[in-house]
Amino acid sequence: MQLGLASVLLSIVLACHATPSPKCAAPGKFMTDKYFGDASASAEVIGATFITSDEPTGNFIIAADINSDGMMTLRRAIYAGGVGAHGLHDLGPDPLFSQGTIDINSEKQVLATVNAGSNTIVAFKINSDDPTDLKMLGKPVNSYGEFPVAVVINKAGDKVCALNSGAHDGVSCYTLDLEKGLIDIPNTVRPVGLNQTTPSTGTSGTVSTIAFSEDESKLFVAVKGTTPEANFDEHPGFFAVWDIQADGSLSEKYLRVPVPEGGQQPFSFTPIPGQNALLGADGGAGFYIWDLSTLDQGIPGPRSSVTPVIGRSAVCWSRYSSCTGNFYVVDGVISNITQVTLDDDLKPTSVINFPQGIFDTTLDFDIVPVNDQDHMYILAANATALRVMQLAPNEINQLQSIDLAAPSATVGLTINPNNLQGLRVFMK
Ligand SMILES: *[C@@H]1O[C@H](CO)[C@@H](O)[C@H](O)[C@H]1NC(C)=O
Ligand SMILES: *[C@@H]1O[C@H](CO)[C@@H](O)[C@H](O)[C@H]1NC(C)=O
Ligand SMILES: *[C@@H]1O[C@H](CO)[C@@H](O)[C@H](O)[C@H]1NC(C)=O
Repeated sequence: MQLGLASVLLSIVLACHATPSPKCAAPGKFMTDKYFGDASASAEVIGATFITSDEPTGNFIIAADINSDGMMTLRRAIYAGGVGAHGLHDLGPDPLFSQGTIDINSEKQVLATVNAGSNTIVAFKINSDDPTDLKMLGKPVNSYGEFPVAVVINKAGDKVCALNSGAHDGVSCYTLDLEKGLIDIPNTVRPVGLNQTTPSTGTSGTVSTIAFSEDESKLFVAVKGTTPEANFDEHPGFFAVWDIQADGSLSEKYLRVPVPEGGQQPFSFTPIPGQNALLGADGGAGFYIWDLSTLDQGIPGPRSSVTPVIGRSAVCWSRYSSCTGNFYVVDGVISNITQVTLDDDLKPTSVINFPQGIFDTTLDFDIVPVNDQDHMYILAANATALRVMQLAPNEINQLQSIDLAAPSATVGLTINPNNLQGLRVFMK
């Protein structure tokens, strides 16, 4: 009996040594979820804010309740089943150089994210009664590349595509099954071919984000340009566009669409409501408008443009506010939040900066309505804080800033301002 058990154990050990697999990854193996505290007694919970720790010793999803007044209460850190990683560009904040480290589908109550150091993608079910309570669906799965940095979930909430930024770069897609988790969709592993390293050298010459077209017949990836100093394939930045076939497979090759003139480092995609166009942050230029009307010809449409942002240094993230009708872009280096107003012809009519604390490094953010007013939830990475701002036309008012450092130390969660990345909001 005892001998039998010993030999089973021995064979497990031998099997692990023989075939290194995600099961054998030493760091992060015995991580357990952390509990910061109970829900606020005085307020109803209406949603949750999620970021990732992206720690190389264990990647956690750090989750805060959103209460009925829009304020947050830090609740849980959920182990994401792998480890984080940091790009080689500089070791400061913004480790993955991406928008979309986390994506959420609120109707289906699902969340997906990356383990950048384990080359895995993972999905969770959100408990709608207690939305910081996440249940892993199946196991983390192979990203079919290295240094995964972004994911996107479709509108139906039953499909996820992921973006790898390392030496093996490119995309891969999965069916999202509420019982089994992520299941490979055949013929969706497609390289971009940027000749990067693992982790990426970044920021220049790396992939930034991934999105579906409005009708979900195409998959878009934004690629940052490279400067003459880079020792590989010099280019001004472009969009890679795959066709999605009826069976879910992707076209063998992507269509390469250049960034609109003046653009350099396309970083994000935000659909412009009612228009066949996207607005995105451009880390080298400000923000761009990509008019998709001539997509089939592989060129940006006639209403495409690039607009500089005053004082801009690294404008990287973008979102739309349906209440104010404005777009917002965030600069990760100088911590300015910029409000952008467009006319019906996609021309910017005003660009207003709202300076934040100079050392805060405001990064990923999301915008949702709370009590009929849009609220911006934002990661201030170097301040190790989560913040909420109330948005009104030409006005941004900070309502709350919650510290992550002290509560994390208390519960034994390792975090580092240089590794925090990604932010999405779930609303009940
Ligand atoms: C790929 O990058 C390496 C340096 O990392 C460089 O030596 C090599 O020439 C590059 N290859 C191509 C095809 O650009
Ligand atoms: C932030 O925006 C303000 C207002 O437009 C601008 O004066 C400032 O130069 C910007 N910050 C930096 C560091 O460029
Ligand atoms: C982060 O904050 C520290 C002070 O806490 C500051 O010295 C450092 O320059 C900041 N880093 C960035 C990238 O702003």
